[in-house]
Amino acid sequence: MLFASAVTTFLSLVVAATPLEDRGGHKSNGCSSGSDQPIFHSFFNNTLTQATWPAAKDVAFSHLSLAGWRSDALRGAAGSWANLTADARSAILKDYHRLGKTLRVSAFGQNDNVTTNANDPEEVAASLSKFAADYNLDGVDINYEDFAAVASGAAFDWLSKFHAKLHSDLEASNPHAVLTYSPVADWFAKKDDVWVRFIQAVESDVAWINIQFYDDGSFNWTDCTQLLTKTGSSSYLSRQEIADLTGFPVTRIVVQKPRQENQAGFISGTDLGKCFKATGAQFSGVSLWRVDPTNTNLSRDWVNDVVENAGVCKNHKFAKNAQHDLGICTSS
Ligand SMILES: *[C@@H]1O[C@H](CO)[C@@H](O)[C@H](O)[C@H]1NC(C)=O
Ligand SMILES: *[C@@H]1O[C@H](CO)[C@@H](O)[C@H](O)[C@H]1NC(C)=O
Ligand SMILES: *[C@@H]1O[C@H](CO)[C@@H](O)[C@H](O)[C@H]1NC(C)=O
Ligand SMILES: *[C@@H]1O[C@H](CO)[C@@H](O)[C@H](O)[C@H]1NC(C)=O
Ligand SMILES: *[C@@H]1O[C@H](CO)[C@@H](O)[C@H](O)[C@H]1NC(C)=O
Repeated sequence: MLFASAVTTFLSLVVAATPLEDRGGHKSNGCSSGSDQPIFHSFFNNTLTQATWPAAKDVAFSHLSLAGWRSDALRGAAGSWANLTADARSAILKDYHRLGKTLRVSAFGQNDNVTTNANDPEEVAASLSKFAADYNLDGVDINYEDFAAVASGAAFDWLSKFHAKLHSDLEASNPHAVLTYSPVADWFAKKDDVWVRFIQAVESDVAWINIQFYDDGSFNWTDCTQLLTKTGSSSYLSRQEIADLTGFPVTRIVVQKPRQENQAGFISGTDLGKCFKATGAQFSGVSLWRVDPTNTNLSRDWVNDVVENAGVCKNHKFAKNAQHDLGICTSS
């Protein structure tokens, strides 16, 4: 396992023995230290080959998650990763790690109702952590979207058992593994809601959460105040209100939005950046669905617009050294 130990050595350098609960991805961007470093996260979801895999320098994010891992199938980028040769995976990982970027696996999605389908939570967790370990990935992002189980309350017990097993397996296989969740914003409203209780309970195990502030038909979080400070609704909360309700620090709650204009809840990078400036809300980074591998400029331009307009980074430029290109420079 020469390669696995090389990865561990690399990540040890990157994260410098930071305890899991402090990690938050803040150390992997190569810029000044501090736990308030913004997090730049996105996904690959397409079927890819080594030849079509975007080069790390073209991807304007410090954390990438490969979507398509399901409890019963491997699809999209996660399936493609497993299909690559070990040498190809090694070359791609080296490219990403050289620029301080992580590659992780994103699990579930809307086609994998694991709780409703009565999948055993510990078996699913074991299978997922084994996938991350077998293929040398830097951790996992959990895109649990079993709406019926959240509505019935069954999700709490399932997620609690799943999380306990996943967290302990990941720590055993890679102490530097990064574990995040990407819940939908609709699930945070009252203190006894499933996701409010769950995320409170696991907060110290989780690097950060990407909250999908999309659109559920009646609410879309495209207004700055709605998104970042106060919604004025008892059914839908802003990022700050979710932080207050859950106790999860606002610096580790990352706004996730879709990039395409035709996707519900879309906001332009410029408008999102302006929202941080207008409300004075702490800029914690962004999570974007998703990088189009056929034109990485689209997601780069979006995130660049966010950073330029958020006022967090003067003279910000995406130049050659991506470690310093991700809007992590100070605003001084
Ligand atoms: C990837 O995501 C885009 C945007 O949501 C979607 O249009 C496309 O169908 C997805 N591709 C796959 C293979 O899932
Ligand atoms: C992986 O390879 C298998 C076998 O060739 C193929 O059936 C599957 O479609 C591939 N999956 C992806 C996501 O590339
Ligand atoms: C998952 O559950 C949702 C409702 O909660 C349903 O709309 C969707 O079709 C289900 N997906 C599958 C693949 O069964
Ligand atoms: C968001 O919702 C508001 C109010 O319903 C609506 O005016 C606006 O067009 C929606 N925006 C998007 C991008 O869907
Ligand atoms: C992407 O942006 C770069 C730098 O601005 C430019 O040289 C390149 O032509 C663009 N590629 C596409 C596909 O637009």
